Amino acid sequence: MSGGEAGAVAILDVRSLTVSYATRAGRVFALRDVSFAIASGETLALVGESGSGKSTIALAIMDLLSREATLNSGTIAFAGRDLARLTAARRHALRGDRIGIVFQDPFTSLNPSLPVGLQVAEPLVFHRGMSPAAAFVKALAALAEVGLPQPA
Ligand SMILES: Nc1ncnc2c1ncn2[C@@H]1O[C@H](COP(=O)(O)OP(=O)(O)O)[C@@H](O)[C@H]1O
Ligand SMILES: [Mg+2]
Repeated sequence: MSGGEAGAVAILDVRSLTVSYATRAGRVFALRDVSFAIASGETLALVGESGSGKSTIALAIMDLLSREATLNSGTIAFAGRDLARLTAARRHALRGDRIGIVFQDPFTSLNPSLPVGLQVAEPLVFHRGMSPAAAFVKALAALAEVGLPQPA
């Protein structure tokens, strides 16, 4: 995979990423030597058939690979810093703040017992130190901006 011929500093730089999964049938390589870079403000779409490794790339970037996954080689740099060299606390601080993910299936990625506004507001409280009330106002504005009718 190539693309995103980014300028001097890529916001995200994935180099030679190889990830495998331990399965009962042996080791399955989901990614072999995947490299790409994305410049700030640029959009990159990964397109491929089911099982080609798109989700594995996204989960590796988010540091959310499952237990059976091994990052065999490669680096993932965010804003010039190798994520693997950051402490878990630093990675956690980036996730949901500078790096986010929208999961495919809202039924499993959102908590059905909580209103969506609270779930949109949560990272603003955790990462930006906003009060719950201020975060809720901002979440309402965001839901209105994407065209949700009567977000309140
Ligand atoms: N938890 C897992 N255990 C074993 N194999 C997995 C696991 N997750 C994904 N795979 C395998 O890794 C490959 C890539 O899967 P995935 O990243 O989900 O592809 P995509 O998102 O493009 O459909 C597939 O062969 C898939 O079966
Ligand atoms: Mg997928």
